[in-house]
Amino acid sequence: MNDSSMTKNKKLVQWVDDMAKMCKPEKIYWCDGSRNEYDSMIRIMVDSGLATPLNREKRPNCFLFRSDPSDVARVEDRTYIASKSRDEAGPTNNWIDPDELKKTMKGLYDGCMKGRTMYVIPFSMGPVGSPIARIGIEITDSPYVVVNMHIMTRVGQKVLDVLGEDGVFIPCLHSVGKPLAEGESDGSKWPCAPIERKYISHFPEEKTIWSYGSGYGGNALLGKKCFALRIASVMAREQGWLAEHMLILGITNPEGEKRYVAAAFPSACGKTNLAMLIPTIPGWKVETVGDDIAWMKFGADGRLYAINPEAGFFGVAPGTSEDSNYNAMKAIEKNTIFTNVALTEDNDVWWEGIGYDAPAGRIIDWTGNVWTKDSGKVAAHANSRFTAPARQCPAIDPDWENPKGVPISAFLFGGRRPSTVPLVHQSFNWNHGVFLGSIVGSEITAAAISANIGQVRRDPFAMLPFCGYNMGDYFQHWINIGTKTSADKLPKIFYVNWFRKTADGKWLWPGYGENSRVLKWVFERSAGKGKASETAIGFMPTEDAIDTTGLSVSAADMKELLSVNKEEWKKEIEGIREHYKKFGDRLPAELKKELNALEKRLS
Ligand code: OXD
Ligand code: MN
Repeated sequence: MNDSSMTKNKKLVQWVDDMAKMCKPEKIYWCDGSRNEYDSMIRIMVDSGLATPLNREKRPNCFLFRSDPSDVARVEDRTYIASKSRDEAGPTNNWIDPDELKKTMKGLYDGCMKGRTMYVIPFSMGPVGSPIARIGIEITDSPYVVVNMHIMTRVGQKVLDVLGEDGVFIPCLHSVGKPLAEGESDGSKWPCAPIERKYISHFPEEKTIWSYGSGYGGNALLGKKCFALRIASVMAREQGWLAEHMLILGITNPEGEKRYVAAAFPSACGKTNLAMLIPTIPGWKVETVGDDIAWMKFGADGRLYAINPEAGFFGVAPGTSEDSNYNAMKAIEKNTIFTNVALTEDNDVWWEGIGYDAPAGRIIDWTGNVWTKDSGKVAAHANSRFTAPARQCPAIDPDWENPKGVPISAFLFGGRRPSTVPLVHQSFNWNHGVFLGSIVGSEITAAAISANIGQVRRDPFAMLPFCGYNMGDYFQHWINIGTKTSADKLPKIFYVNWFRKTADGKWLWPGYGENSRVLKWVFERSAGKGKASETAIGFMPTEDAIDTTGLSVSAADMKELLSVNKEEWKKEIEGIREHYKKFGDRLPAELKKELNALEKRLS
């Protein structure tokens, strides 16, 4: 379809018209979400050389893209929360006055789609028509964005039907920021603007997103981080629900009893792997609802119900193998878009950590050049990705598209902490759990900035780059959620740490499928069972509470994994005080109280 007859929503038609007047595209195309549309969009990009079809026998209907080397990841420095006041954006966000930002961006948008087609993508975050789902409309000049949105969200007429004549939508404007001159075409070159002209902007009061200059990932697929986290977190606070950077999994015990767990970890801490984990403990099953984002609302029974607002996985390729994530490897066998991975001679994909050496023959790296093992360079970019339909995951939960969502029994928080934080502990109550979420962080290792080794980079609730308003108010929102229902209906809150190391740098815990042993304890605790003892930092498993049958971790290491070192925790308190200082008087009194109580318990 290429006209606005798909909708009678006057606001939408007007907005598209206004944006077209500003961006001046050659054509406007309204997306219907059909298979035909996907195929023809891919064909355009194959013909221009931007997309490479992969081996049809090995990876049917899969395509490889290579982005510009300047456009390979989310650009946090160029991401803005343009609320009316700086205070509303808070100390953890980049802020620009919204009028000033709009003026700058209007200058950039003026004529930015010259020579290009403007695609209008109606999309639903969450199952179409679910009471928890919300609608967005992305305008973009990138066919790469269109095909990715087809996989990551629900697109097309069905969404406009639910929107109706006066339904509300989130306007999401995107341009790669590369107008074409008369007769010019991109060919095989990835279009984008230089870094200083990239803007990923959010207007929380207007619930609007303006993205300019990047065609990659969360900068361009606006349903994901921009809408489902930054704007949705603002909506959730206003309307009394939660929009979180959390995976959702279902876990079933050998008796067939099932519970759902949602977990927040900073980027690159293995969320996708945990969401798709294959338990090593016999008789237990884990199923995937989502791997990145959870939207949660209270049901009539007073429990929190979660949906995965996305319909696909936009996962990091390097490190994904049959050992680390068998289910992801199965999910990406067909109908998948790969970006910035390496290409083998037989037109298959390869990346570092795929589980086998690069095959013989010519390998083309993510920059499009021939690669050799001894080049000292990676063949796949560290942030190379696969975009795959969630329904292709063998472990997908039967209720993953249930419009009511799934009831959450437990929240997990965690990060990479080589020391101090034990394998697992449980909060004493809701407010103490919010405290645990507020102190999430990962230790900076030698691989990062050497001057800061051992320091903890705090990433509260794993929402540091994704909270659309003042993080102090966000903490308060979490405290308030705890007053909306009775304590027995609230999910139990846990802090896990798969990343403990010995003094000489060896991992203490094997991770991956073995994490099911911790999930089992979480399952039992949230059912009011499971043995625990009270410590200064929270409830911890008693010595025999974690099922270690068949586990290759020594009793001494288990002891170390489940110990609380008071000296380390006293140092931790100093770090938390420093972290909390940033929020000034926006820090909830409840959290100050929790910190003081922890200090007292440790003394
Ligand atoms: C992601 C991220 O891409 O968290 O999901 O960075
Ligand atoms: Mn994420």
